[in-house]
Amino acid sequence: MTLPTVPAGFMFGTATASYQIEGAVNEDGRCPSIWDTFSHTPGKTLGGDTGDVATDSYHRYKEDIALLKELGVDSYRFSIAMPRIVPTEGGPTNEKGLDFYERVVDELLAAGIKPCATVYHWDLPQYLGDKGGWLNRDTAYRVADYTRRVAERLGDRVDTWITLNEPWCSSYLSYGGTEHAPGLGGGPAAFEAVHHLNLAHGLMVQELRSAITKPDAKVAVTLNLQVNRGDADAVHRTDLIANRVFLDPMLRGYYPDELFAVTQGICDWKFIENGDLEQIHQPLDLLGINYYSTGLVKMSDRPQFPQPTEASTFPGCSDIDWLPTEGPHTEMGWNIDPNGLYDVLVRLHNNYPEIPLFVTENGMACPDKLVVEADGTKAVHDSDRIDYLTRHFDAARRAMEAGVPLAGYFVWSMFDNFEWAFGYSKRFGITYVNYETQERTPKDSFKWYQKLIASRELPV
Ligand code: NOJ
Repeated sequence: MTLPTVPAGFMFGTATASYQIEGAVNEDGRCPSIWDTFSHTPGKTLGGDTGDVATDSYHRYKEDIALLKELGVDSYRFSIAMPRIVPTEGGPTNEKGLDFYERVVDELLAAGIKPCATVYHWDLPQYLGDKGGWLNRDTAYRVADYTRRVAERLGDRVDTWITLNEPWCSSYLSYGGTEHAPGLGGGPAAFEAVHHLNLAHGLMVQELRSAITKPDAKVAVTLNLQVNRGDADAVHRTDLIANRVFLDPMLRGYYPDELFAVTQGICDWKFIENGDLEQIHQPLDLLGINYYSTGLVKMSDRPQFPQPTEASTFPGCSDIDWLPTEGPHTEMGWNIDPNGLYDVLVRLHNNYPEIPLFVTENGMACPDKLVVEADGTKAVHDSDRIDYLTRHFDAARRAMEAGVPLAGYFVWSMFDNFEWAFGYSKRFGITYVNYETQERTPKDSFKWYQKLIASRELPV
């Protein structure tokens, strides 16, 4: 492959998600989501921050899309909020909700930008949360039904569909641990959420396939695979629990036997029903990877199984230690390890060679400061972010040279936004947002990315 020029059709993009940017939580018939409840519960998010206003993109989407056009992206990844589309359980479609996303999609198309829609990015309606959320099998069917409603309206225009974003977070962080909504902290209960998310994914793909009319539209899923380093046994186990638990059912139609073996005594997997794996294993056009950093693990001296059922984002791994990683670290405390991106892309291509990949998120939280220059213009000099992105784009280029079919790369994020439990304290944007005035200021990284996109060349 001739690089650094990217192949024709390569998608340079940026990404966001509904609850992180839209605000307008009480408008046009939207119902509360589990993230509204969680963020309004004292002590759950830093400073009690909520997504009530966020970057107000529900009202400012035109201005935002104008900025995307200025940036020159080929595609924009955003998510659709189920609480806007199906605000009552089993009730009628809220047309005003669909109207909003139709306006967004049409505005993107008019700007020459391909819409990439994530159907589920964590904002589950609270009425489903009240019935157990992802611990309840019925949630998979409700989310699939919502998917059909969306695809029937937008299936003639959206270029790329992503079923779920990071089901690892929607299961382990949300039902195993307490970090994400609903924060139930049930440890191994997370495996049930894992399976229901896998099931939802399979059902969603089927709904999308039957409703989409755009001939070249693509259907994908986005996973945040753990890239751990350290001793082989610990790496193998965490790979099984965090990665293969999604990859194998979705791409191969089975759960690895070893997964059942290592979770013996803490999970009986009886929630898997006959026929589920056939439903989950659906042909996909692309696999989306969100990549930020790597972990360092080792087997500890703590006892093996059975394991406690207390809150844990890593059920099945209580005999594994997570060690501090080598710096430098980002504002999130995550290490910077571009080779991890190379490794995960190459590994996926080796193990699942039939599926093209795309990076659906990569980026960095920095302690950005808005400055006013001598000529009165505003700027953010985020050279660390430029360095981070340069090195990760370079890793992607190396993976492509090694034969990985990479279809695109989306920077997280287009704007500073609501960073979940960290509220507004972490800024990932290439566009600075002043939360008092909602003024947007392109950072230096925006200008850097603008040039990179215009050149169609990846850093060497
Ligand atoms: C993953 C998630 O998809 C996104 O919502 C989040 O803001 C970023 N990573 C950064 O943590």
